[in-house]
Amino acid sequence: MLLKQYKEAIESSNIVSKTDINGIITFVNDEFCKISGYSREELLGVNHNIVRHPDVPSSKFEELWDTILSKKTFKSTVQNLAKDGSTFYVNTTVVPILDENGDIVEFIAIRYDVTKEVELRLENEQKQKLLFLQSRQASLGQMIANIAHQWKQPLTELNLTLYNLKKSHTNEDEFEKYYHESKEIVKNMSKIIEDFMNFFKPAREKEDFFLHKSVEDALKILKKPLIEEDIKVNFEYESINYNGISNELSQVIINLIQNAKDAFKQNNIKNRQINISINQNQNQNNTLLKIQDNAGGIDKKIIEHIFEPYFTTKHSSVGTGLGLFVASLIVEQSLGGKLLVSSERKTTTFSIELPIHHHNKGCKCCH
Ligand SMILES: Nc1ncnc2c1ncn2[C@@H]1O[C@H](COP(=O)(O)OP(=O)(O)OP(=O)(O)O)[C@@H](O)[C@H]1O
Ligand SMILES: [Mg+2]
Repeated sequence: MLLKQYKEAIESSNIVSKTDINGIITFVNDEFCKISGYSREELLGVNHNIVRHPDVPSSKFEELWDTILSKKTFKSTVQNLAKDGSTFYVNTTVVPILDENGDIVEFIAIRYDVTKEVELRLENEQKQKLLFLQSRQASLGQMIANIAHQWKQPLTELNLTLYNLKKSHTNEDEFEKYYHESKEIVKNMSKIIEDFMNFFKPAREKEDFFLHKSVEDALKILKKPLIEEDIKVNFEYESINYNGISNELSQVIINLIQNAKDAFKQNNIKNRQINISINQNQNQNNTLLKIQDNAGGIDKKIIEHIFEPYFTTKHSSVGTGLGLFVASLIVEQSLGGKLLVSSERKTTTFSIELPIHHHNKGCKCCH
């Protein structure tokens, strides 16, 4: 009697099916019929893979069969196909039922519907990808503007030198001098392109790198605008090795410095100072990369929103409001750390907190 009540309780609240040892369906409850869109008659006696979704790799089924045939319980979220071709997701538990000799008699699968949750998650992932792409495009635009900017001056110089070169064609010494000058300018222009190219090299593989190297790369890219805006940068660091993608950390730092630069301008600050430091935080067991500016600070009312996508206080031609959102995603998801902010007395400090990285045996930097 008690057993019957258990059975009813499970069946009324879950999607239940049973199969024989070969996977042929021997029982389905109403919930199973409802979610799969098949009638009981269509299901009984056919293989359970009638609801198999073509997108699920066969390795998943191998894993299922390996588990249950070794008399263990299998648990997973499974993507299934309904009769009408639509997809549903179920959190599934498959339990092998054994007889008194310990042999498998049948399998019972109990599941519940998680389609809504999974679809929401997939939708969010899609959104995040789109935001990433958007911000990448924005920063690409910024980079191109930066190159164009850094080329302006040498182009003007080159123009002048070529003019001089033409004038001096009768004077060998002068000709030689202007010819050399032109070559130097062109070399310098190639160097600028090279710096940017290196930065944009798709380095998707994680590798060991020195944290200060990422900061130096970022400072190299921002050299010109920092000088022009009269911003002094003080950088102090301990040499710390980290495993990850160096360019991505540079991108975060560029975003943070860019924000400070905008704030200096907006608040009309006279003595513009950015302090960057990298330190091992012994008691907390992590590394701290701090970027502090004296650009006026961030208002208490807005500071809790600055990491949200599209949050910006800037004119739409200046900011999209994705900078800090993407920066925090990179720090969390790619570097495994945290991006924190604090602001007091007209200063803002962004801290990138990274876990202390334990190296593999045999890695170059510690052995
Ligand atoms: N160092 C800073 N000092 C003062 N305000 C800041 C600083 N950093 C960020 N903020 C504030 O946080 C907001 C959000 O920054 P975020 O980088 O996400 O977007 P944005 O700079 O406005 O646009 P985008 O980076 O997409 O070009 C900024 O609009 C600004 O109000
Ligand atoms: Mg920004």
